[in-house]
Amino acid sequence: MNKRTLVKTAICSAVLTALAGTSSVAMAQEAFKIGLILPMTGQQASTGRQIEAAARLYMAQNGDTIGGRKVQLILKDDTSLPDVTRRLAQELVVNDKVDVLAGFGITPSAMATAPIATQSKTPQVVMAAATSSITQASPYIVRTSFTLPQVSVALADWAPKNGIKKVVTLVSDYGPGIDAEKYFKERLIFNGGQVTEALRVPLRNPDFAPFLQKVRDGKPDALFVFVPSGAGAAVMKQFLERGMDKAGIKLIGTGDVTDDDQLNDMGEGALGVVTSHHYSAAHPSPANKKFVEAFGKANKGLRPNFMAVGGYDGMRVIYEALKKTGGKGGGDALLAAMKGQIFESPRGPVFIDAQTRDIVQNVYLRKVEKKDGQLYNVEFDVIKDVKDPGKN
Ligand code: DHB
Repeated sequence: MNKRTLVKTAICSAVLTALAGTSSVAMAQEAFKIGLILPMTGQQASTGRQIEAAARLYMAQNGDTIGGRKVQLILKDDTSLPDVTRRLAQELVVNDKVDVLAGFGITPSAMATAPIATQSKTPQVVMAAATSSITQASPYIVRTSFTLPQVSVALADWAPKNGIKKVVTLVSDYGPGIDAEKYFKERLIFNGGQVTEALRVPLRNPDFAPFLQKVRDGKPDALFVFVPSGAGAAVMKQFLERGMDKAGIKLIGTGDVTDDDQLNDMGEGALGVVTSHHYSAAHPSPANKKFVEAFGKANKGLRPNFMAVGGYDGMRVIYEALKKTGGKGGGDALLAAMKGQIFESPRGPVFIDAQTRDIVQNVYLRKVEKKDGQLYNVEFDVIKDVKDPGKN
């Protein structure tokens, strides 16, 4: 080897070493990616808008570097069609190599993603969908929203004590609606009440009119309603247009129907409606006041609803898990660090049950009232630390 070749070889190997060094540094600093799949358009778009806003607020408040890792949010619009959700989840895992999958506006979207989470060992943080059985679809699912059985039972305890014995149920005809119908009915019967008719409306483009007419003719004490977030205002409008309230029929339901995203535009006819749910924008805690104020400030005065709080808490669960792994991540380590988290949410104290990976939380009874000229779900009773009754 002559001198020139020797120098060349030395330079080459120095360059290679430097390159190798750079790439290992780059590896260590590779972003921690959260694939956030939400319905940003279509019938469930308000859910997407609320959760995206809440996730961005959480990041703005808590920084975007955790344990030396830059956190990157990759937002995808699944238009709430489960086939699209599945394809997007697959692409996020295979092409983008996301560390966590999150979001899921409706139950079919969460269900469609579950096998991908299991196969790729990627934690799937369900921030919105609320059918009880979702967490059983994959051991990698952790939920920060709620379940319909969890919130329906409290209302069935309240109703008969308040003169409501004969009830017609009206639910969206899919997972959460069927859960709400079943758990409300069983508990009402247990408490001496009865469900005289159980009506189901399609999830897509529902027309409530023929159903409401039927209810009016049957004259129950109350109509119990579950519809997904975003559909409540239409139910309220048609209920009032048909003079059901004047006919002495009370409207009751899970808090999805008096959704904070729409409630203030429902008008005075909504006053007095009693619902049970896990979150109200009017929840009187300092943590919630701070949350509602910051959310409004960052989003042109938008009021956060229960979807927003599911997204905000979901980001917290992910951040704390990443912190616990010292920025290393890894599907199984993240999952282990998500289980058992206890913290104060804007909704009140919450706990991620390590056994079920589902959220344990307070359920509140609330009544629509006017406060400072605006309509709110004002809490008047609380059932503490409620586990999903769907899991035994
Ligand atoms: C689901 C969707 C909603 O918008 C809601 O309010 C409750 C449940 C769901 O599909 O699981």
